[in-house]
Amino acid sequence: QEIPTIQITDVKHYVNQTVRIGVWLRQKRGSGKIAFLQLRDGTAFFQGVVVKSDVSEETFEIAKSLKQETSMYVTGEIHEDTRSDFGYEMAISGIEIVGESHDYPITPKEHGVDFLMDHRHLYLRHLKPFATLKIRNELIRATYEFFNKEGFTKLDSPILTGSAPEGTTELFETDYFGESAYLSQTGQLYAEAGAMAFGKVFTFGPTFRAEKSKTRRHLTEFWMIEPEMAFTTQEESLEVQERYISYLIESVLKNNEQELDILGRDKEVLRSYTQLPYPRLSYDDAIQLLQDNGFDVEWGVDFGSPEETFLAEHFSKPVFIVNFPKEIKAFYMKRHPTRDDVVISADLLAPEGYGEIIGGSERDTDYEYLKTRIEEQGLDLAEYQWYLDLRQYGTVPHSGFGLGLERMITFVTGEEHIREAIPFPRMISRIRP
Ligand code: 4AD
Ligand code: MG
Repeated sequence: QEIPTIQITDVKHYVNQTVRIGVWLRQKRGSGKIAFLQLRDGTAFFQGVVVKSDVSEETFEIAKSLKQETSMYVTGEIHEDTRSDFGYEMAISGIEIVGESHDYPITPKEHGVDFLMDHRHLYLRHLKPFATLKIRNELIRATYEFFNKEGFTKLDSPILTGSAPEGTTELFETDYFGESAYLSQTGQLYAEAGAMAFGKVFTFGPTFRAEKSKTRRHLTEFWMIEPEMAFTTQEESLEVQERYISYLIESVLKNNEQELDILGRDKEVLRSYTQLPYPRLSYDDAIQLLQDNGFDVEWGVDFGSPEETFLAEHFSKPVFIVNFPKEIKAFYMKRHPTRDDVVISADLLAPEGYGEIIGGSERDTDYEYLKTRIEEQGLDLAEYQWYLDLRQYGTVPHSGFGLGLERMITFVTGEEHIREAIPFPRMISRIRP
């Protein structure tokens, strides 16, 4: 009978059977009589045991000489192992080396952040990045599932664009056959065109901001999910937003228990964030609340990290801050029906200091008003003519929002810094590896 080649995650179906698995060596310990090999294969982590008296002399010698990150096939019988979290181990009978490894730089001792980021291409193999990026994958999967269930069509927006809807100060400019082009800051304007064609759409792609600030919440390249809905008011959009966030958290709780445990994230705290609705607090009231609690803020300013942290902590759950001052928001946001100074917008702030995870608004539908706003913001009107067309041919009330994927990942995983939430982070001082 041929020995099956399987993956670690499937060993539970092979108890007391002999199998073969392609693995890398994480760590090794042991004595003259026994070697314990910590193994991984990308699906899970577990232990293989090589007992000198049970294997050939040659196999035991190989086991003893293995170096960190050597790749190999191990063959052996699967046993239940109630002492480990994983629950199973392999009694190894044979080892076939596939790729040698020498002087692997990331040793079990402590390394600094810069060292690990310089070795990100290797550090991906380790426990914490593995768990974080598995959760990233689940959030992506659940995003497609949620929006498909809700009847949205995925619409891909371009990455090279002529426009700068989120402001001109944070643009990556590039030469496009003699013309200026910019890396997309947002797919929103294209999503609006899509909503007029498909009703409910979402874009999901990389977006770029030449953020000069070095913070633990900013990347220069990040991924954004941008739903846009025709015949939809801001209030209806807020309901979609909170359902979506709750759905993402539930999906991770259901499918990533192992990863949450690796990261030490409190599951009961996370579960409490699935309770809807999330509070809605007007910008005016938020300013008042901050002032009452000793913050030196005046009406009209944008919130910084301390203010955001305070507001969401005050409610112990994500909180919508609605109707921001017009002057600090993008040109496309809908005017308030009775006030000149605010727009129909909302930011969703996450608790525990994770900051703004969603920004969104209802979109103004008036051609002349938008034209004026574009000019007031110093944008090139010619680049937005196609966008203004949408207001000329059957415009409808519509709303949308953008979720920053990496912000959501830090919130769900409890990671301190956003660089951990993307395989190869791009920040002001990092473009390699
Ligand atoms: O609030 P923002 O700038 O909104 C937009 O871009 C709108 N066009 C979205 C829309 O209505 N369709 O960005 C949306 C979200 C933020 O809430 C934040 O989560 C994330 O994108 N984000 C960043 N994430 C990481 N690094 C950065 N530099 C980010 N800038 C924004
Ligand atoms: Mg924002």
